[in-house]
Amino acid sequence: MKPARYLLILFAFVSLLLLTTTPSQSQRPTNVEQRVNALLAQMTLEEKLGQLQQLDGEGNGNFRPEHLELIRKGLLGSTLNVRGAQRTNQVQRVAMNESRLKIPVLFGFDVIHGYRTIFPIPLGEAASWDPSLAERSTAVAAQEANNVGVRWTFAPMVDIARDPRWGRITEGAGEDPYLGAAFARARVRGFQGNDYSAPDKVLACAKHWVAYGAAEGGRDYNTTDLSENTLREIYFPPFKAAVDAGVGTLMSSFNAINGVPASANAFTLTKVLRDEWKFDGFVVSDYTAVRELINHGLVGNEQDAAAAALNAGVEMEMVSRSYNTFGPKLLEQKRLSMATIDEAVRRILRIKFRLGLFDNPYTDEAREPNALLRPESIRLAREIAGRSMVLLKNDRETLPLNKSVSSIAVIGPLADDRRAPLGWWAGDGKEENTVTPLAGIRAKVSSQTKVGYAKGCEVKDDSTAGFQEAVNLAKGSDVAIVFVGETADMVGEAASRSSLDLPGRQLELVQAIHGTGKPTIVVLVNGRPLSIGWIVNNAPAILESWMGGTESGNAIADILFGDVNPGAKLPVTFPRTVGQVPIYYNHMNTGRPPEAENRYTSKYLDAPWTPLFPFGFGLSYTNFKITNLQLSAPPIQADGTLTVSVDVENVGKRAGDEVVQLYIRDVVATMTRPVKELKGFQRVTLQPGEKRRVTFVLDREQLGFWNREMRYVVEPGEFRVMVGSSSADVIEAKFEVAG
Ligand code: NOJ
Repeated sequence: MKPARYLLILFAFVSLLLLTTTPSQSQRPTNVEQRVNALLAQMTLEEKLGQLQQLDGEGNGNFRPEHLELIRKGLLGSTLNVRGAQRTNQVQRVAMNESRLKIPVLFGFDVIHGYRTIFPIPLGEAASWDPSLAERSTAVAAQEANNVGVRWTFAPMVDIARDPRWGRITEGAGEDPYLGAAFARARVRGFQGNDYSAPDKVLACAKHWVAYGAAEGGRDYNTTDLSENTLREIYFPPFKAAVDAGVGTLMSSFNAINGVPASANAFTLTKVLRDEWKFDGFVVSDYTAVRELINHGLVGNEQDAAAAALNAGVEMEMVSRSYNTFGPKLLEQKRLSMATIDEAVRRILRIKFRLGLFDNPYTDEAREPNALLRPESIRLAREIAGRSMVLLKNDRETLPLNKSVSSIAVIGPLADDRRAPLGWWAGDGKEENTVTPLAGIRAKVSSQTKVGYAKGCEVKDDSTAGFQEAVNLAKGSDVAIVFVGETADMVGEAASRSSLDLPGRQLELVQAIHGTGKPTIVVLVNGRPLSIGWIVNNAPAILESWMGGTESGNAIADILFGDVNPGAKLPVTFPRTVGQVPIYYNHMNTGRPPEAENRYTSKYLDAPWTPLFPFGFGLSYTNFKITNLQLSAPPIQADGTLTVSVDVENVGKRAGDEVVQLYIRDVVATMTRPVKELKGFQRVTLQPGEKRRVTFVLDREQLGFWNREMRYVVEPGEFRVMVGSSSADVIEAKFEVAG
C-alpha cells in the first residue's frame, strides 16, 4: 500500500472515532440510555402505559385531584396546563415520594410567544425577517416558563400557511418554507439552548406534524390532500430545521394527509421522522387526536385508534386515554408488541433524563416572583415589536409624526384595548401589563399636545352610535390615527374566517374619519392578512402592527413618531379579496400565465391576479437602492456553490433597515418549479448614504428539488437568480448548472 493510502485510512479512522465520541443533542452519552433501560426493565406494563399518557390539568393552572392518584400509582407521565412553581412541586412530590419508581412528571404548557412578557404573535415576529430576535424572545419565554414550573412548551408552531382564512396562520412564520425554517431553528434554539436541562430553558415541541396549515378552505381541523413533493418542499422544511436544531418533541396534528390522519400516519411519523431524519425524541398527539381517529373514519373504536396511533409512531397520547385503557388487551391480541411500547417509553424517558428531571424534579419557588416581566424582558418586547411592524403605505411622508403636533385624535375599537395586542395563546400574559396604543402615544408626545380618544365602534358588533363622537374629535384635531382590526379570539385555534374584510362597522368608521378631510393614519391590529383595498387606496399611511404583545402600544408610538424606523417585511401575501385565496408568491407558472390582454390565461374576471401586498413587502422612512448584482464564476456543478452579491445603499435621509431577499427559479426542470423561491435574506442597518455589499451563497441545498422518483436532485440547466426588496421588486441574473 502507498503511504498516501495509509494516511487516508488513518484519517478516516480518526474522523470516525471523533464522530462517534463527540456528544451532541441527538447522540448523548450512553449513560442516559443506560439509565433509561435500567428503569424500563423494572416497569410493569401499566407503568409503561402510564408514561405514554398526558392529561389536562385545569385551564387556570391548577391540577385535578384525581391526577394525583394516577401519579401515585405511576399511571400518568405528563400533564398540560398545570403551572406555578408551588403547584407543580406539589404534584411532583407525589411522583417523587409516593410512586413506586419515582419517575418525574413532565409539565407542559402552550408558551407560544411569551409566558408573562408577551412578544408579538409569531407571524408578526417573522415579519422582522430577523430570526435572532425570535431566538431572544423565546429565550425570555423559556426563562419565565421554567421559573413557574413549566418544563415543556408546545412550541414552536412551524406550520406553513398559505391561507389567511385559517386562524392559526397567526401562530406560525407565514407562507414560506425557507423563512419558516430559519424561524423554526431560531425558536428551538431560544427555547432549548444547547442544553434544555438548564434552569432557564424548556423542552420545545415542533407542531403540528404535519400539513395542518393546508386545511382545505382554511377551515380549522379540515383535511388536506397534498403531493409528496409539496409535503417535502413546502410543509416539511421547518420541521426538518427544528429536528436538526435538536428539538426534543413533535406534536402530531389533527388533520388527515392524503387519506391518512397525521396522528396515525406511518409515512410521516416513522418513515420520515424516525428513519430518514433520525429523530430520537418523542411525538405527542394533539388534544384527543388519537380518539378522533374514529371520527376520521380510520378506525371503528378506541381500541383500534390506540393501535393505529401507537404503531404509527405517536408515543404520547394527549387527553384521550386509549393507550392506557386498551394497551393490555392489544398486547394480548398481538396487535401491539412489547417492543413498540418499550420504544415509546424509551423515547419519553430519554427526554425526561435529558431534561434533568430525575436529578432536578422541582422548581425553586423563591425564583418565581423575580422571574417575570423583568425590565430587560420588557425592553426586548418593545424592541422586537418595533422591528416586527410593517409600514404598508406612507404617501407624502405622512409619517413619522411630529411629537409636538398640537392635537391628535386617537380613534377606533383597538386604540385602547388591552387584550387584542396579546393575541391568541397569550400564555399567562395579563391585560393589566399591556401598553395600549393610546397609552403609548400619550407617553410619547410633548406635554403641549392634546390627545383625544374616541372608540367609534366595537370590532364586531353592528352599532355606529359612537361614530359622531369620533368624527367630531377628528374634526377638532390636526391628525387622526385609527386603530382597527381583529379581536384576539378572531385568530388562533378554531378561528377560521370566510371573509378577510375588517369585521363589524370598522371600515365605515375609517371612511367616516377620512371623510373629515383630516390626515387619517390607519394602524392595523390583527393576526392574519386582511383585504383592506379601500384603505390602501384612500388612507395616506398604514402601519401593520400585528398583535404586538405587552409593549405593543409603546412600539407603535416609537414608529408613528419616528424613534424607530420601520424595517419589517410581510412574511405572507395579502390578498385583495378572499376569493384570490390561496395566493402565495412561490406558485407555479402554469401553461397560461396571466396576461392582461388575453382572456384565456390564468386569472379572474372580477379581480386582478396580483395581490394587495406581495410577500416580502414593507416600506421604511428612508429609501434603499439595490444594484450591481454579481455572480461568482457561473456555470457551476450540481454540487458546487455560487456566490451572489449586490450593493445595497441607503439613499434617503434617515438610518434604516432593508431586508435584502434572494430568490431563484429553476427555469426548465423535470417537474414544474415555482416562479420564485426564497433562498436567502439579510436584514441590514444602514446610515444615510451608506452602501454595503451583501453576499449570499447558493449550493445544492438551495438549488435542488424532489423529483418524480422522490429523490432530491439538482438538475442541470438554466437558473435565474433575483435579488431585491420584496418578492415583486427584484433585479435579476442568470446562471447555468453544468450537466
Ligand atoms: C390544541 C392545539 O391544536 C395545540 O396547538 C395545543 O398545543 C394543544 N391544544 C394543547 O393546548
